[in-house]
Amino acid sequence: LENGVARTPPMGWNTWNTFGCNINETLIRQMADAIVSNGMRDLGYKYVVVDDCWFNPNRDSQGNLQGDPSRFSSGMRALGDYLHSRGLLFGIYQVPAAETCAQYFNGYPGATGSLGHEAQDARQFAAWGVDYLKYDWCSPAGSINDQVVAFARMRDALAATGRPIVYSINPNSIHEKTGPLRNWGDVANMWRTTEDITNAWDTGQSNGFPMGIQNIVNVNVPLASYARPGGFTDPDMMEVGRGGMTDTEMRSHFALWAVMASPLIAGNDLRSASAATLTILRNQNLIAINQDALALQAAQVSNDGTRRVLAKRLSNGDVAVALFNQGSSTTTVSTTAAAIGKSGSSFTLRDAWTDVTSTTSGSISASVPGHGTVVYRVSGGGTASPPVTFRLRGEASGRC
Ligand code: GLA
Repeated sequence: LENGVARTPPMGWNTWNTFGCNINETLIRQMADAIVSNGMRDLGYKYVVVDDCWFNPNRDSQGNLQGDPSRFSSGMRALGDYLHSRGLLFGIYQVPAAETCAQYFNGYPGATGSLGHEAQDARQFAAWGVDYLKYDWCSPAGSINDQVVAFARMRDALAATGRPIVYSINPNSIHEKTGPLRNWGDVANMWRTTEDITNAWDTGQSNGFPMGIQNIVNVNVPLASYARPGGFTDPDMMEVGRGGMTDTEMRSHFALWAVMASPLIAGNDLRSASAATLTILRNQNLIAINQDALALQAAQVSNDGTRRVLAKRLSNGDVAVALFNQGSSTTTVSTTAAAIGKSGSSFTLRDAWTDVTSTTSGSISASVPGHGTVVYRVSGGGTASPPVTFRLRGEASGRC
């Protein structure tokens, strides 16, 4: 979406994965303080997103949305001001239906969705200083065309406010997951591609609830051609630092999100993040690859079911290559400079995790532990065109 924001994948933190509906302004201020003091803000994690359950179950007498008075007693504008005063940006959650997901599925009180209130709610968000809207299709019915209409209506309402607001949509969970794929880059800055993530490596789901890391990667990798500045596939918020995975798996999760040009939205409790978790979330080599100005999503180079190779062309001619071992025991994962779009006979490989560099005349390989991912930044030689074919926005093709 050409609305001036999200030229690279948005980075930040969201309440949902750890806290669900148990949120309040104190928690969010503490998380903002943590994201500043632990250095994440200065590495790019700017958006602090308040997910579902922030609202008063009743609109006011003018039909305006309100924050829950007991948990957001200072008001939503004050929360936005606090985040801005810390050099952060303010994200909020809403739906294009009558009821939010928690209201519809979990009996959370009220029916405060934006259906029929789009322009008014967009103006309200802008007045609160909102910089990012997560707009979540959570409804029992609706065709792909209904969704396009509903998501475009809020896109236009946000544009009419004149405030630059990242527009993050979830058209795919609950339904249309088995319907036609659509390139949502004409509607939003990022669009969910799978059902909800959970803090597990593999749940055995191909696109059902909930999804593990491996399951999400399987769905999101083939969508590489959709990503570009202003529009990114969204394989959901990260589970790094939430338990449920080994350190190797969490590193792999982060590395794969980095090369897939995925929004890097942390979901762990930052107040108690371990050193190992912060080492992952603050990996500057991977953040630089994720935030590269070309904003390409890694294309698949090969996949034999166990060894999977992805390559992401970078703006200075380097190529990031991910050597992903999908099996459970250590194996060597290999590719070549030619296969990732490099020409020439002398290349430098910089390991994104260890910072160790090596040289090669063309062969690229690593011994990778089960579920692990080694990422090299490959420089030297020439660079062929990116191994990606762009698709037209709005085009429907294939099935999820
Ligand atoms: C859906 C979304 C989640 C989260 C919840 C909130 O499940 O996919 O990311 O926003 O709704 O209820």
